[in-house]
Amino acid sequence: MSLEEEVRRLKETRNAVILSHNYQVGEIQDLADFVGDSLYLSRKAKESDAKVIVFSGVRFMAETAKILSPSKTVLLPDLEAGCSLADAITADQLRQWKSEHPGAVVVSYVNTSAEVKAESDYCCTSSNAVDIVKRVPADTEVLFLPDMFLGDYVRKQTGRKNIHLWVGDCFVHTRMRPETVRQQRALHPGAELIAHPECGCTTEVLPEVDKVLSTDGMIRYAEQTRDKEVMVATEIGILHRIRHLNPTTSFVPLSPDAVCPFMKMNTLEKIRDSLRDMKFQIELSPQVMDRARRSLERMIS
Ligand code: 13P
Ligand code: SF4
Repeated sequence: MSLEEEVRRLKETRNAVILSHNYQVGEIQDLADFVGDSLYLSRKAKESDAKVIVFSGVRFMAETAKILSPSKTVLLPDLEAGCSLADAITADQLRQWKSEHPGAVVVSYVNTSAEVKAESDYCCTSSNAVDIVKRVPADTEVLFLPDMFLGDYVRKQTGRKNIHLWVGDCFVHTRMRPETVRQQRALHPGAELIAHPECGCTTEVLPEVDKVLSTDGMIRYAEQTRDKEVMVATEIGILHRIRHLNPTTSFVPLSPDAVCPFMKMNTLEKIRDSLRDMKFQIELSPQVMDRARRSLERMIS
């Protein structure tokens, strides 16, 4: 029996669904029930009737699924699949920051631990960060965390002066700098540039970026574009689906070495093992989940 067949059978026996982030390797995306960005997968985790969710992504995503569906068993195939951005702030650091800005509203990117979400008023993803910050009354201070590039982008889009940014970044996206854009522009004259808001190039060269999009925003863009060539500034796993959806446009990575080692820890073998042995189960304290759920429900609604 092939590995794919084994996974399909185990999935049926366990009444499970596999959720895959857009950065997973192609063979996982092809086998998954749902593939998408953080917001889409959070919704799918909540809506699904399955008893078991295998989250092929990173830990904060699996935690989010567990918080939104506490009665389901949520499995992460490799417990070491973390996120440098989520590690950029702890709940203690956030409590300290809040104490320095009494009355401020805390908007946390979904790339955070469950404990940090529990200390937040709103969660957001790259697709709805601007909309969520716009909902905060104009005279109320905002603490935005943990990604400074996404925060700076939100600041520019909303024109808010009273938004404070936590100085955190994703070590994969931060390396895509303004000079990377200049070098690649010289090699690909005339190409469109689409960038994830976590990129280090969404700062002073923002006007040079044609579109700032979440990973699913990039997928939708790729489906409809008629451009000859598009440079894609995010983790290269996304190219699998993009190229499949639109074989006539040439999609080139802005940085071919933009690979998230945490995302790539998941393999088909580990997914098989996780379904077979029901490991590794995400467990969180009910108190933390109850508090984190409020901010996540606001994100989803
Ligand atoms: P998306 O929500 O756009 O999929 O981004 C998640 C992520 O981790 C990007 O590095
Ligand atoms: Fe975290 Fe960056 Fe990997 Fe996304 S690409 S999961 S933000 S380390």
